[in-house]
Amino acid sequence: MKDRVYSEKMDSVERFRFNASVVDVFPDMINRSVPGYETMIGFSGIIADRYIQPQTNCYDLGCSLGASSFAIANHVNHFDYSIIAVDNSPEMTERFAKIKQRQITTVPIDIRCMDVMDTDINNASFAVMNFTLQFIAPELRDEIIKKIYAGLNPGGALMLSEKIIFDSEKEQSFIEQNHYAFKKSNGYSELEISQKRTALENVLIAETISEHIGRFQRCGFAEAYKWYQCLNFVSFVAVKK
Ligand SMILES: C[S@@+](CC[C@H](N)C(=O)[O-])C[C@H]1O[C@@H](n2cnc3c(N)ncnc32)[C@H](O)[C@@H]1O
Repeated sequence: MKDRVYSEKMDSVERFRFNASVVDVFPDMINRSVPGYETMIGFSGIIADRYIQPQTNCYDLGCSLGASSFAIANHVNHFDYSIIAVDNSPEMTERFAKIKQRQITTVPIDIRCMDVMDTDINNASFAVMNFTLQFIAPELRDEIIKKIYAGLNPGGALMLSEKIIFDSEKEQSFIEQNHYAFKKSNGYSELEISQKRTALENVLIAETISEHIGRFQRCGFAEAYKWYQCLNFVSFVAVKK
C-alpha cells in the first residue's frame, strides 16, 4: 500500500508514531525514504550467516514487520537456531505475526511485543538492530548496547543500521539535499517531506559515525566497522571477541 500519511496539509503535525496508519504503508514508506534499505536488509542475512551458531539465539531488535528476520531466516536456514524478534508497537507485531503465517521458514521466529530495554538477551550469536537505536532516548543507548554485548557469546556480532548526522555543516547540507532529492525522485511531495520531517523532530535523534564507533568501544566491542553507507544512512558490524 502506498504511503500517503503526510500527503494532505495538516493543521498540526503530531509526533511520529509506529501506529496502524504507518504499519499499513510501512514497507513502501521505508523503501522510498531510506536509500540503500533493501541492500542493508539483504546483507542482514549474508552477514548473519558468518556469525550465527547452532543452538543459539539471533535477536531482531525493533523488528517492525520482520524484514531483517525473514532475510536472516531465508539465508541462514542450515542451522538449528532461533530468531527472537522484538518491537514495542503492538500494531507492528500483530501485522508481522500475520505475515509470518503466510511465509514458510524453517527457522522458528518468536515475535515479542515489548520494549528492547526490557528484553533479556542471552546465548546470542547475532543481533540486528536496523533503524531502531535512533528512536531510543540518547541517554539509554549505552545501556542497550551494553546489554547486547553482555548477551552475545564470544565471537558473536551486532549489526546496527542508523540514520546519521555529520560534524561538518557543509557535508550535512550536501547530504541532506541529496536525501531530499532521493525522496522527491521516489514521488514524495515537498509537503509530505516537510510534514514528516516535523513529525520526526525530537523523535528520531541521529548521531555521527564517531559517536556510534565510540559507543561500541565504550560498551565492550573490540571491533566495530562501518560496512555500508548511502548518503545519511549507515550500517555497522560490531564483534565481541
Ligand atoms: C524504523 S523501524 C525498524 C525497521 C526494521 N528494523 C526494518 O529494518 O524493517 C523502527 C522500529 O522500532 C520500534 N521501536 C522503537 N523503539 C523501540 C523500543 N524501545 N523497543 C522496541 N521497539 C522499538 C518501532 O516500533 C519500529 O517498528
